[in-house]
Amino acid sequence: MKGIILHGGHGTRLRPLTHTGPKQLLPIANKPMSEYCLESLKNAGITDIAIIIGGIGSNKVEEYYGDGTSFGVKLSYVPQESPKGIAHAVRLCKDFIGKEKFVVFLGDNIIQKNIQEYVDDFRNSDNAASILLCEVDNPSQFGIAEIENEKIIKLTEKPKIPKTNLAVTGIYFLTPLIFDLIDNLKPSWRNEFEIVDALQMLLDINEKLKYYIITDFWKDTGTPEDILQANKIILENMKNYSYGIKEDGVIIEGNVMIGKGTVIKNGSKIIGPVIIGENCLISDNAHIGPNTSIGDNSKLSNCHIERSIMMKNCKITGNIKIKNSIIASNSDILQRNPNNDEKIFLLGEGTKIIL
Ligand code: DAU
Repeated sequence: MKGIILHGGHGTRLRPLTHTGPKQLLPIANKPMSEYCLESLKNAGITDIAIIIGGIGSNKVEEYYGDGTSFGVKLSYVPQESPKGIAHAVRLCKDFIGKEKFVVFLGDNIIQKNIQEYVDDFRNSDNAASILLCEVDNPSQFGIAEIENEKIIKLTEKPKIPKTNLAVTGIYFLTPLIFDLIDNLKPSWRNEFEIVDALQMLLDINEKLKYYIITDFWKDTGTPEDILQANKIILENMKNYSYGIKEDGVIIEGNVMIGKGTVIKNGSKIIGPVIIGENCLISDNAHIGPNTSIGDNSKLSNCHIERSIMMKNCKITGNIKIKNSIIASNSDILQRNPNNDEKIFLLGEGTKIIL
């Protein structure tokens, strides 16, 4: 079986973080979110994978993953000129897939459960497709399935008045039959070729569409809050390690991962779950955590950062408390004089600041 990861799209809801690159490269626990998709496929024995790329900074995807060798997979890249929909992206892979069954992973979907059992089940079945459903609180933002007598009877993309709360997750098990159906699709109300509509066509021609309802953690990381939530869950499930240097007098509690070359100075407090990358300096009673990721080569002094993601090469200096924040690479936050309430900003387009 082959795999497809969708790495295109505009990522508009995550601006300004997506002004310089695709959302699927945003880090969760210091690793691009799409790397979790790649690992899910690889762990299920799928190593021949096409990545759909398009939009701002798509060259960064190829730079990061290369030919896949260092990730233990074989990668091909398929450019998508503009994001005309998931079904459109899948159709671009027809030649790559040939006659094989395949798995499509949306690059912004994170699933905790190993997908091996679904892959094996699908490989040995005569199902035309299988999908994973998950209960959600906000069903009008997903593809939604209606079920009767343990069969899917209807699939609707983002219904205004959802009949169920069973969302179609972004992991699809498909056969090449889907390509012919996609060729007959019409654009939806949001002007996209919807994969949910292609799956509905399978139902219309009485093909077998199997579903599983998953209860493990699954997240479509469409918004900053989704990313922070995913970061928390991934951190909670990591095994702690420490390759850095901790001075005496450092307080460390809970699940904490510290990369090599990182120095944590006396007086600092790290309350897990927390990951700190390589070559960081944590000093002057800095307090990190819980639920926080700090990227490589960052320096934190005196501050308190909680439930946040700070990417690479960042610097925070001063008696500042930061919470529920995502700070992109190479950012610098400096408190020059605590008594001076004048603030100086150099902000990129679409920045959000809450003081
Ligand atoms: O996450 C699950 C949901 O994903 C499903 O419940 C919906 O049925 C499905 O349509 C999709 O909904 P979204 O509106 O969240 O899809 P989004 O536009 O965010 O795109 C999903 C991923 O696919 C994202 O990583 C970007 C990528 N993409 C998207 C489009 C439209 C592409 O690579 N090319 C595209 O043309």
